[in-house]
Amino acid sequence: MTIYDFDRVIDRRGTDSIKIDNVKAMFGKENLLPMWVADMDFETPPCIIEAAMEKIKQPVWGYTKPSNSYWKSIQQWLKRKHALDVNPDELGFVGGIVPGLSFAVNALTEKNDGIIIQPPVYPPFHSVVRHSKRELLFNPLIEDNQQFSMNFAHLPTLLKNKPKMLILCNPHNPGGKVWSKEELISLADFCFDNDILVISDEIHADLTLPGYKHTPFASVSEKARMNSITFMAPSKTFNMAGVASSFYYIQNPTIRKKFQDFVLGNDLTGGHLFAYATTQAAFEKGEEWLLQVLVYINENIKFVETYLKKYLPKIKMMRPEASFLIWLDFSETGLSHDQVVEKLKSEAGLALNDGISFGKEGTMHMRLNIGTSRSIVEEALRRMKAAFV
Ligand SMILES: Cc1ncc(COP(=O)(O)O)c(C=O)c1O
Repeated sequence: MTIYDFDRVIDRRGTDSIKIDNVKAMFGKENLLPMWVADMDFETPPCIIEAAMEKIKQPVWGYTKPSNSYWKSIQQWLKRKHALDVNPDELGFVGGIVPGLSFAVNALTEKNDGIIIQPPVYPPFHSVVRHSKRELLFNPLIEDNQQFSMNFAHLPTLLKNKPKMLILCNPHNPGGKVWSKEELISLADFCFDNDILVISDEIHADLTLPGYKHTPFASVSEKARMNSITFMAPSKTFNMAGVASSFYYIQNPTIRKKFQDFVLGNDLTGGHLFAYATTQAAFEKGEEWLLQVLVYINENIKFVETYLKKYLPKIKMMRPEASFLIWLDFSETGLSHDQVVEKLKSEAGLALNDGISFGKEGTMHMRLNIGTSRSIVEEALRRMKAAFV
């Protein structure tokens, strides 16, 4: 068994990484500790880099197609990790999940149609709908005692706007909420009964932390299975977001045909030279790395939890059940939202995601990315303490 060293700090400067090399452009300041964009600072698993190297060594870099073993690796992963039986013809490639969301919106709704999202939620859920000139309908999550739940009392009030689609973040970003089967069944019933197609973004599914289990939306009921499009990817899981290799599965043939007509009609189906081989390597050979990284992330979360309780009790955290992103609540600090943002940047020297970018429900919140070496997490918290105590 290989033991991976997640304590090793890798200097990512000068690699054109958005997280590192865009800090100045985004925050107007150099040298902030980058704890924002959702990729991890750990080395991408060697088996994936080796698969890319094999492709680099290829003498001719021509058009590349997905092989049968690529599809099989996805099918087997879904079966093994999520108890899902998906036929190869129900699967398809997309070059990124956000593009996939946009294709779904454009293929399956019309201009000005209502699309429900549940803020605070990943900013592109807002922007994809807005830029596609659809109407955003909000069903804000309930945040109670550092826990999110879906607001099933509010959801029916949106029916007057005749929603056509709901985009679900499963597990949820920010906050790392792993939705329960019961919640997903209720959502599936509501959407099916009201003719609202569910787009389930499950990019964080494989990052559920020890003690939690992901429930694929499509698996919870027949209503869910026949009324959904699911997007997944190895990108977050194996720290290979720069490869832009994702996939969908659609079990309802009518929905699938509409989606596929759109992607085929716009020639959006193909991946680049590295997309398929790296994904296959991740699913076939990456599991040992994944199990270890999840333990490490979980220890980072515990570290933050203990540190905040001890030194910064007015900053509350939502304990993630999946992924490496911590939703911090600054409401008890007595500061305004803008003061918190400014203090983090100018006094603590930290780059965190502004909670408001997830929707106005994110006021007084910030998102902290702890997918990094423990020493960096420690440094971030030391800086926070110096600024806030
Ligand atoms: C919920 C969610 N969906 C999609 C993405 C990005 O997907 P992609 O890079 O494949 O477009 C992210 C990245 O943080 C995310 O959190």
